Amino acid sequence: MRVLNLFTVFSLATGFQLGARPNLSHRSSKITSKNTQTTTSLDAYNVDLKGKVAFIAGVADSTGYGWAIAKQLADAGATIIVGTWPPVLKIFQMGLRKGDFEDDSVLTNGGKMEIEKIYPLDAVFDKPEDVPESILTNKRYAGLDGYTISEVAAQVEADYGKIDILVHSLANGPEVTKPLLETSRSGYLAASSASAYSYVSLLQNFAPIMNPGGSALSLTYIASERVIPGYGGGMSSAKSQLESDTRTLAYEAGRKYGIRVNTVSAGPLKSRAASAIGGKGKKKTFIEYAIDYSRANAPMDQDLYSEDVGNAGLYLCSPMARAVTGVTMYVDNGLNCMGMALDAKSMEGSTEE
Ligand SMILES: NC(=O)c1ccc[n+]([C@@H]2O[C@H](COP(=O)([O-])OP(=O)(O)OC[C@H]3O[C@@H](n4cnc5c(N)ncnc54)[C@H](O)[C@@H]3O)[C@@H](O)[C@H]2O)c1
Repeated sequence: MRVLNLFTVFSLATGFQLGARPNLSHRSSKITSKNTQTTTSLDAYNVDLKGKVAFIAGVADSTGYGWAIAKQLADAGATIIVGTWPPVLKIFQMGLRKGDFEDDSVLTNGGKMEIEKIYPLDAVFDKPEDVPESILTNKRYAGLDGYTISEVAAQVEADYGKIDILVHSLANGPEVTKPLLETSRSGYLAASSASAYSYVSLLQNFAPIMNPGGSALSLTYIASERVIPGYGGGMSSAKSQLESDTRTLAYEAGRKYGIRVNTVSAGPLKSRAASAIGGKGKKKTFIEYAIDYSRANAPMDQDLYSEDVGNAGLYLCSPMARAVTGVTMYVDNGLNCMGMALDAKSMEGSTEE
């Protein structure tokens, strides 16, 4: 029998973990293939998600937050099904077949996370009529159909009936490397469509097939409310929308369907999507700067692992958080609360005793 204690509740809510083994010997930006770290034992959790079905949109490898959340949900017994963007579907399936993600699939009971079904999903399309000719004839979509949000929801309903957990772990901004001042209207709207409206649409289509007491979760970033140079193309705007929509959707979906809607504001992680933000002509990529800055200036002087966000995701999607909805939960070693950069040249000597 799993034991619930107050420390466990606290640790799930805050990310503070008993037995954490932070790796302080290297900077996070050096982490390439390994974004994960086993930091907790699930034996102490009072979370049993057996019989629950979780659909995670935006998983195509094991380096990102979607995988980490899926893994924690699987560890608690949930059935995992995912939605994967068609252009990266084949490579993901091939990786799974070749066993590329075996090490990152190991659960605390020694078993492996199993992804029961992968649905091709393009979250910028709501229904078949929305798909333009250029996509229908695109070779990266060849042989696939039924990948719009409403069609995927219908397939999931046919396969599983009702589900319990919906995770939105996807973002895309074609002009992310451009400052907002240079972002085109179409680039801005594309970022919004893929990264913010997609959550609205997922809820529109999945909430009707979710059991009351269910939970929806997305991933946001501090650029929504503070200036993060380099996170351009309207992505900062899209994250602001996502956070604002989280509150409105929490109210509407709470009242209508009895489900909770939250978002996690995650610290920087060297995922595939984040690495694509680039850093042309600079010493490091955007995400490497962001990770090093966080390590130098956050209240908690420790690496951030995808599992830290996975743990918060598990908490928010579990019955332990049954009264928590409409929140933006920071899982970023506390960087969001800082008002000055400790490692700024102008701060030299200021923190010495
Ligand atoms: N990595 C970070 O530093 C960081 C920080 C805060 C928030 N986040 C957020 O976390 C979420 C997951 O990103 P990640 O960094 O873990 O990277 P990731 O590469 O693991 O996830 C992004 C996923 O989005 C998918 N995707 C892109 N366009 C799509 C579309 N139109 N339809 C369906 N899927 C699409 C990609 O294929 C990819 O699988 C994103 O919302 C991201 O903004 C990331």
